[in-house]
Amino acid sequence: CGIVGYVGKRNSQNILIEGLKKLEYRGYDSAGVAVFTENGLQVKKSKGRLANLESKLGESPLNGSIGIGHTRWATHGKPSDVNSHPHTDNSNKFSVVHNGIIENYVSLKEELIAKGHVFVSETDTEVISHLIASLYEGDIVKAVQQAVKRMSGAFALGVLTEYEPEKLVAVRLSSPLIIGVGEGENFIGSDIPAILDYTRNVYILNDGEMAVLTKDGVELMTLEGNFISRELFYVDWDIMTAEKAGFDHFMMKEIHDQPKAYRDTMGARLDPSGSKVVLDEMNMSEEQIRAIRNVHIIACGTAYHAGLVGKSIIEKLARIPVEVDVASEYRYREPIINKDTLVIVVSQSGETADTLAALREAKRNGAAVLAITNVVGSSVAREADHVIVTWAGPEIAVASTKAYTSQLIAFYLFGLQLAQTLGTQDAGFIANVIAEMKLLPEKVEQILAQADSIKGWAEQVAAHDNLFFIGRGLDYAVALEGSLKLKEISYIHSEAYAAGELKHGTLALIEDDVPVIALGTQEDLLEKTISNIKEVKARGAHVFGVQSEGQTELAKAVDGVFTIPRTLTLLTPALSVIPLQLLSYYASLARGNDVDKPRNLAKSVTVE
Ligand code: G6P
Repeated sequence: CGIVGYVGKRNSQNILIEGLKKLEYRGYDSAGVAVFTENGLQVKKSKGRLANLESKLGESPLNGSIGIGHTRWATHGKPSDVNSHPHTDNSNKFSVVHNGIIENYVSLKEELIAKGHVFVSETDTEVISHLIASLYEGDIVKAVQQAVKRMSGAFALGVLTEYEPEKLVAVRLSSPLIIGVGEGENFIGSDIPAILDYTRNVYILNDGEMAVLTKDGVELMTLEGNFISRELFYVDWDIMTAEKAGFDHFMMKEIHDQPKAYRDTMGARLDPSGSKVVLDEMNMSEEQIRAIRNVHIIACGTAYHAGLVGKSIIEKLARIPVEVDVASEYRYREPIINKDTLVIVVSQSGETADTLAALREAKRNGAAVLAITNVVGSSVAREADHVIVTWAGPEIAVASTKAYTSQLIAFYLFGLQLAQTLGTQDAGFIANVIAEMKLLPEKVEQILAQADSIKGWAEQVAAHDNLFFIGRGLDYAVALEGSLKLKEISYIHSEAYAAGELKHGTLALIEDDVPVIALGTQEDLLEKTISNIKEVKARGAHVFGVQSEGQTELAKAVDGVFTIPRTLTLLTPALSVIPLQLLSYYASLARGNDVDKPRNLAKSVTVE
């Protein structure tokens, strides 16, 4: 989500809207503003793109020089006008914008309802405005401090009250928030781009800090009320760089978002004791889990490749047979579906036409449908019976990276949930997988720290028009994704082959210098993969290998090797795909392509 706020002399409405436009990349399923006008604190909000809000405000503008605005990426509660921010209390005297999650909102809400508060939305944010209103005794700063003490979670807030119409209060606890300092005007933003058109002088708030803004000044303090003095930070980057958090392209930013995406997707779904998965939100009863006799995984593109890994995960952990299909095939092949079938649809956007049609076909045949999607409130999420949301955050680059890996995490969680319920794995095994999953974000960081070492490979690869990816087992599934990524953005023709299948035809295409990317992270299959590597090398191929830490054999058989940190064999896809994402990125750069917007492709394909 994105937050912006303004206090000054100018009309705030346009500044808020322009700020929100700069934050649209953070999510865009609804937006809203609250402004002090002659008639008090007025709120306008609207579901859908920011343009909807803009046209509402065009018809009846809000005139006033202090206001807050928000663009939303739904977490609690589907995208709708009423669930959009800002939220108010029953007196309409307090207004709040919020990023992040209030973990204890349910109990706070019950407490406030008992005191007579009436709630209109499903959001955790509305609880904040009510809580602040209930604690207000003439000092908004104190009321916010007391309210924050009652709230747990990670969040950033912007707060206004009609009782003190010159003040804008901002709080940061784990969700980013910055303060922009102008002349006779000041700003808040969840990210620097929101305010960069107006000022380049900012204070970056740290966790546990808050700020009180008036048009004439900014006071920084701790949540306990101790004043802080801090140097202004001068921003010398341009807007586009800022949106990309300093990276040259969204794809590279999103590759680097992966440790966070892993943490957020695992988040509250791992029991604090570390021994269990808690997927209650999926809404699948024990009885429903026990009734599953077979699973069909349906998706398109990269999500289909996540499904291929999902098949191995579910079969291994739960011993239930799984089929994987691309959605456009599944629909027309008269699949054998019955009430014992669980159909899992995987879709980043939740709007892919073929995936949606396959979902409907499955439902018509009486199957239960589980959606794994990155977009709360998307069509797929609404129509499925059960949903697991991947918390990757908005993905902008057409080539999917963090959405894919978050889908893998969702499959691990689901596979473990099945194993727990069905008793197909013992508790010690499950606890061990969970412990290893928790280490994945750190291991991804270790891979990213060596990103530069992939550049050389990428430049060599970029000089060719054809290449091959090979691997066995889970490495084959990852090879398919690596190959697709490369095709999408570098426009180099590549094919992924099950390493053992190469000699049944494709080997004919191997000639001098053809690059082959060989994945060898599946230890039990390594010897066989090495034999296949020798087959291509004997025909002149130039082989780059990916191996797990602690192995030595693969390195001896290839021309160059990238080593990923060690993890359980089952979890390797969550690491081994990262060097392949980087390879595609650098190869695309080397060829001078538009990395984020490859030719002919669209991020979300809503035609069949
Ligand atoms: C498009 C995108 C792909 C994506 C596929 C499925 O073709 O370009 O990157 O994998 O759609 O999208 P979904 O949103 O359903 O995951």
